[in-house]
Amino acid sequence: MRATMKHAKSKRIVLGITGGIAAYKAAELARLLVKQGIEVQVAMTEAATHFITPATMQALTGRPVLIDQWQDDKGMSHIHASRAADAIVIAPATADFMAKLATGLADDLLSTLCLARDCPLLVAPAMNKQMWSNAATQRNVQRLLADGVTLLGPASGVQACGEEGMGRMLEPEALALDVVAALQNGTSLQESSLTPALSRGEREQKSTSALNGIKILLTAGPTYEAIDAVRGITNRSSGKMGYAIAQAALEMGAQVTLVSGPVALTPPVGAQVVQVSSVAEMFEAVKAHVAQADIFIGVAAVADYRVAQPSEQKLKKSDASLTLELVPNPDILAYVGGLPNAPFCVGFAAESEKLREHATEKRKKKNIPLLAANLAQSAIGSDNNELVLFDDAGEHLLPRADKLSVARALLQHTATLYLKGK
Ligand code: C5P
Repeated sequence: MRATMKHAKSKRIVLGITGGIAAYKAAELARLLVKQGIEVQVAMTEAATHFITPATMQALTGRPVLIDQWQDDKGMSHIHASRAADAIVIAPATADFMAKLATGLADDLLSTLCLARDCPLLVAPAMNKQMWSNAATQRNVQRLLADGVTLLGPASGVQACGEEGMGRMLEPEALALDVVAALQNGTSLQESSLTPALSRGEREQKSTSALNGIKILLTAGPTYEAIDAVRGITNRSSGKMGYAIAQAALEMGAQVTLVSGPVALTPPVGAQVVQVSSVAEMFEAVKAHVAQADIFIGVAAVADYRVAQPSEQKLKKSDASLTLELVPNPDILAYVGGLPNAPFCVGFAAESEKLREHATEKRKKKNIPLLAANLAQSAIGSDNNELVLFDDAGEHLLPRADKLSVARALLQHTATLYLKGK
């Protein structure tokens, strides 16, 4: 896609510019698109006009720039402009504007135009790295991707503020190629919908990963042990950490089998998912797939006990006290760790106190090379996490961040140890 830029004649786009310093690059983007024979209608937010003048954009595109919702007689410019477009491209898209798009706000001409569209929407984020990694922005990114919006970038690099990290807008040349491809045959759009949780810039960044082709089997989420036909014993695990690890592993090129307990999450695209409920089912699924695995990661909050004799019928209420007999469940991680040709095993430990002490003991007892410990109170159900990794070399802190970032760091560490041991 990078090698040539074929013409996409007679296509029209709306180029939306929002208020970030990368707005100056929109001029070059407009120039490149016009050169390709694309009709470019620029729409700017008021904030964008502080970074680049409408006169510049008008001169480059040969069309008056849309800014004010009320600038035509009937206030209908948003409908006319969006109906005429084959695609809307927002470059740069600020964090604020992405939040608006994600919630469906329409309080200026550009956001109204996006809401009124019946054509693809391509968004090129540009913001400071902290703003990009902020949980709110990441939530908005997920929502936009789920809504079918295509993300172009961002890339990593030096930022206008002097910091370095993820959040730079893709260069105009790269954006122009993506826009042309999207207009011609939907290449970018299809690519993006295949990997909804990952933007193109991120995919490029991760493509050099050490996990290429490595098979990872992981368990995630809670388990459910039946008491009777309608009641059961479970826990508050949301599955978010396990799903984030599955997603990070896919980004890094791994083949992922995700054995998942009952959760309310959409699995990452590309993972082979086995849905289970009880520990017995989880154990069977792990046994069925473990022979092919290079790495096993036990993230699931597996019930230590199950009801000895669950009732097939709903138990009737009575005034007498009720005693449930619980029997121990198999330890899936310990089983995998003890296999003759065991994969490289990573365990999790959710502790409510004495994290280091319990984690060290657990790593020894389960005989696994790497154990990731966290405080149950701050990890379960949360969108953020902080891990302390325990391995032969000692302890390593992965500081508090959103679970996907923590998952990426954990997998980098895992990959290093795994490859060293090969
Ligand atoms: O012993 P504990 O339950 O704290 O160990 C937690 C780790 O062991 C997690 O990685 C969890 O997925 C795994 N585990 C398991 N089977 C069990 C209990 C825990 O795989 N029955």
